[in-house]
Amino acid sequence: MEARNIIVLILAFTSCFSFAISSQEYRGRWKLLKKDIGVSAMHIALLPNERVVTFDRTDAGHSNITLPKEKCKGSHTVADCYAHSVEFDVYNMSVRPLTVITDTWCSSGALLPSGTLIQSGGFKGGYKVVRYFRPCEDCDWDEDPDGLVSPRWYASNQILPEGNVIVVGGRDQFSFEFIPRSMSSERTQYRLPFLHETMELQRMENNLYPFLHLSPDGNLFIFANNRSILLDYKENKVVRTYPDMPGGVARNYPSTGSSVLLPLRLSLINSSAPNAEAFICGGTHPYSSKKANAGIFIEATKSCGRMMITSTNPKWEMEEMPLSRVMGDMILLPTGDVLIINGAKKGSAGWNAAMEPVLNPVLYRPNADDSDTRKFGRFEVMKGNVIPRLYHSSAHLLSDGRVLVGGSNPHAVYNFSAMYPTELSVEAFYPPYLDSSKSRPSNVWVSPGTEVGYMQKFKVNFQFENMIYLGENDNEKVKVTMVAPSFTTHSFSMNQRVLVLANDGVRQLSAASYHVECHAPANAALAPPGYYQLFVIYDGVPSIGKWVQHGGPCLPPSENTRVEEKATEVTLSTRMPPAN
Ligand SMILES: *[C@@H]1O[C@H](CO)[C@@H](O)[C@H](O)[C@H]1NC(C)=O
Ligand SMILES: *[C@@H]1O[C@H](CO)[C@@H](O)[C@H](O)[C@H]1NC(C)=O
Ligand SMILES: *[C@@H]1O[C@H](CO)[C@@H](O)[C@H](O)[C@H]1NC(C)=O
Ligand SMILES: *[C@@H]1O[C@H](CO)[C@@H](O)[C@H](O)[C@H]1NC(C)=O
Ligand SMILES: *[C@@H]1O[C@H](CO)[C@@H](O)[C@H](O)[C@H]1NC(C)=O
Repeated sequence: MEARNIIVLILAFTSCFSFAISSQEYRGRWKLLKKDIGVSAMHIALLPNERVVTFDRTDAGHSNITLPKEKCKGSHTVADCYAHSVEFDVYNMSVRPLTVITDTWCSSGALLPSGTLIQSGGFKGGYKVVRYFRPCEDCDWDEDPDGLVSPRWYASNQILPEGNVIVVGGRDQFSFEFIPRSMSSERTQYRLPFLHETMELQRMENNLYPFLHLSPDGNLFIFANNRSILLDYKENKVVRTYPDMPGGVARNYPSTGSSVLLPLRLSLINSSAPNAEAFICGGTHPYSSKKANAGIFIEATKSCGRMMITSTNPKWEMEEMPLSRVMGDMILLPTGDVLIINGAKKGSAGWNAAMEPVLNPVLYRPNADDSDTRKFGRFEVMKGNVIPRLYHSSAHLLSDGRVLVGGSNPHAVYNFSAMYPTELSVEAFYPPYLDSSKSRPSNVWVSPGTEVGYMQKFKVNFQFENMIYLGENDNEKVKVTMVAPSFTTHSFSMNQRVLVLANDGVRQLSAASYHVECHAPANAALAPPGYYQLFVIYDGVPSIGKWVQHGGPCLPPSENTRVEEKATEVTLSTRMPPAN
């Protein structure tokens, strides 16, 4: 036996062995990244340059980081010279203070197709402001004081197939509008009575930060309180009204739950019309916020609802989480699983309105077998952390597969002595797939290039960190997914989206490298143009995400790559490491 084969055998043996142990016990882990990033991470976005941009509000007094002198001098509004936004580098932990002039409190955002972060609304002086942040070495926020038609505080955003962004709702705003406006003279907004109809009470709306998901048919799914509609936003027409979500639970601010569009599984058969499911978890009794203000903290719900929004006969299928949770964040992992993280067991969103932080995340596997008879078959409780993440906390998927967690400030100002103090720390949660004994796809590169057009066929090349051989039966274990980065705040990750690409199977290129030929999404309703993180998944373990720009010009593969392919392409090896 050759030396190399012996090494492979040993690797295979040790990895199988440790997997057998860890699959029982490994429930992820936590790492404190930085104790103090200067601001409390109320809103989080990840930009294609791998930097995290975060901010809270300008009216909370001092933060824990100041602006460089030249930035505060001359600016009459940044009077205190404290920064309320920072750029954070998750790899070397460096923090750069950024300048927001007007108040960004409870605002919303999206990543434009160009890679620029657009952010809208806020409080008072920031009500109608639209801000832009371009990813570059020393860029800073740019503000358009007249970017919105109406003041929008607690509104939600969704990037659209046309590449612009719809902004829906906000306190006392029963309407939607679009940014960036194509002409600044164009001042149009559209009435949306649904937002009025779903409002519980003034100042206890239960429908703020409505959940928005772009349906594969190009319409917008809007969920507020316990009801949902499908909106043709071009014609301003409600094209469907879905059944109420049962259970007597409210799901939006201040009875805050969370929502995701489950991964869209693209196939070549129905390439432009896959089924789509909304999945909503947590929230609380509609009057929980009122009760909390009176000192009575009601237990949040355990319930989740799942509904096929593209079905002709949609119905909510209810499931139960192992833990009650209000203000949880639902983060789509590159594998298509859902991580439910942060939040509290009792109370609601709002100032000092929650008790008993839920320190354990829960993992939900959407495709786990229904026939699994364990009570929480699709749910699994993960390892807990120690830092409460309550109101104004946030979370975001990182390209390396970890989940960034930050924020929490249930106080009007920074308060480090309260029972649940203002949190300036950021941590990372390592989902179980980052168990180091697992085989992780590595060195992902995309050919002909990282600009991928609609319907384009392209190749995703990869290797493995520890050398393993894929056999014919492994085709099904390899998936390629595209993840749209979110803008996360108030327990809702706006624009979050996972696409499982159709592929033509895995081919071995050489001993340790493979490629999989993928089909890009067919149209912009499936995947609005812009930056996505592309992941190769092997047996539930994602590679590091590779940024691709989707929707760019459709480039034919160059002659060179075709030649290379002919020379190296071999049929998939049937060699497998021995079973034990
Ligand atoms: C805020 O900054 C001060 C001075 O740098 C530091 O001592 C303190 O620990 C920081 N507060 C928090 C909560 O990180
Ligand atoms: C961290 O990396 C960034 C580039 O991403 C660089 O600009 C910065 O200077 C680095 N900071 C430190 C403290 O190494
Ligand atoms: C939906 O919420 C409204 C307002 O709280 C309530 O009247 C209604 O009964 C709820 N519907 C269901 C099915 O729980
Ligand atoms: C394809 O779409 C059609 C129309 O929506 C549907 O009737 C059919 O069941 C779908 N087929 C598959 C394989 O999803
Ligand atoms: C911080 O919170 C505590 C407990 O609620 C309160 O007594 C104190 O006054 C607060 N401090 C500030 C600066 O608001």
